[in-house]
Amino acid sequence: MGISAFAHLLPPAAPASSTSGCAGVLDISTAAPLHEAWREALKGIGRTHPNPPVGCVIVDDDGTIIARGFHEKAGERHAEIKALDALAPGAARGKTVVVTLEPCTHHGRTPPCVDRLLDEGVSRVVVGAIDPNPRVHQQGVRRLRAAGVDVVIAEGADALRCQALIAPFATTQQLARPYVVLKTATSLDGKVATRTGSSRGITGPASRALVHALRDAVDAVVVGADTVLADDPALTVRDLPGRDPLRVILDRHARVPRSARVFADDNVCVLGLASISDVLKELHRRGLLAVLVEAGPRLAAAFLQADVVDELWWFHAPLLVGNDGLSAVDFGQVDHIQQAPRFDVVTRAEVGNDGLTVLGGGLWQRPTLSVRAG
Ligand SMILES: NC(=O)c1ccc[n+]([C@@H]2O[C@H](COP(=O)([O-])OP(=O)(O)OC[C@H]3O[C@@H](n4cnc5c(N)ncnc54)[C@H](OP(=O)(O)O)[C@@H]3O)[C@@H](O)[C@H]2O)c1
Ligand SMILES: [Zn+2]
Repeated sequence: MGISAFAHLLPPAAPASSTSGCAGVLDISTAAPLHEAWREALKGIGRTHPNPPVGCVIVDDDGTIIARGFHEKAGERHAEIKALDALAPGAARGKTVVVTLEPCTHHGRTPPCVDRLLDEGVSRVVVGAIDPNPRVHQQGVRRLRAAGVDVVIAEGADALRCQALIAPFATTQQLARPYVVLKTATSLDGKVATRTGSSRGITGPASRALVHALRDAVDAVVVGADTVLADDPALTVRDLPGRDPLRVILDRHARVPRSARVFADDNVCVLGLASISDVLKELHRRGLLAVLVEAGPRLAAAFLQADVVDELWWFHAPLLVGNDGLSAVDFGQVDHIQQAPRFDVVTRAEVGNDGLTVLGGGLWQRPTLSVRAG
């Protein structure tokens, strides 16, 4: 099992990942602060694009946290700088800085954090994850070590959490597209709607709240024209405090009327691009890190077939819709079970009366599969 980039949203009873224990080179005094730094980073999730969310704590010799910081927004101070600024001048000398992502070495919108860490005279830096950005990758660690700072690269459960946290950012760096979470909600018999297209209320309030939390944590929600026409969804965050993501409507024939609820404000964009790859290129150009595709059957098939689904969040509710209902994914027939697309299970959770299985994408590409024209 892998780890979801959004596992922190899952109900606490569910195993967030299969990786537990095993603190690696980290002793207790650094593992707990790294967990705190990760919690700091979560405060920025969904707000920092095109930068990754990052959290930092500074600890003194007995492990007490003396400062905290997180990256709030692109252009604003990096997490390390915020934590250092929270201390009196000179107070960071000889202290340990624990940060979820390798400190930067390049002049972006702000000066390099490594320079500031060296100026402050910190003696130790604990790094949760190495920066996948080629302009920084390993150089932050190298420069700190060359200057005599003791650098510890974290291992174990908290290091994995730090890597999961930046999985969307790593995807933008390595694949030049946003991280894609595909969400579907089905009956026990795998239907997303009745034959008349009625689908609201398949899952219960707990699942709905979780989807709102997911919307709050991604940069954009993507839907197909037919889902807007069938359900007229608002696609906002209403069940909890949060901010609304950008709403992206895929509508190649301009069929969605401006009276639809998705147009309630101007935080919306309509894309009429032919392919999923073009859609993702455009969203990448806008600097988005992670998108949530709330897909009907055809869009689900299109994203899966394009092999761009990083996580598949499949809610299953305790009801039956029957043979005439719409299947969750509209794809060509499978003759042999061995040819059926099979996914990796990342994690499972109970969400109210519903079940949730988080699956890894990637295993879809099989030559025998074809998506129905439509
Ligand atoms: N239970 C759930 O989780 C859930 C979630 C969503 C929807 N639904 C239900 O699903 C039904 C709608 O599903 P659907 O399959 O008809 O529609 P859909 O998957 O929501 O959207 C498909 C539409 O997206 C547009 N599109 C734009 N670019 C595309 C591309 N590259 N590939 C494929 N489509 C693209 C197409 O419209 P154009 O060709 O006009 O551009 C296509 O008709 C509704 O009944 C809705 O209630 C259920
Ligand atoms: Zn920095």
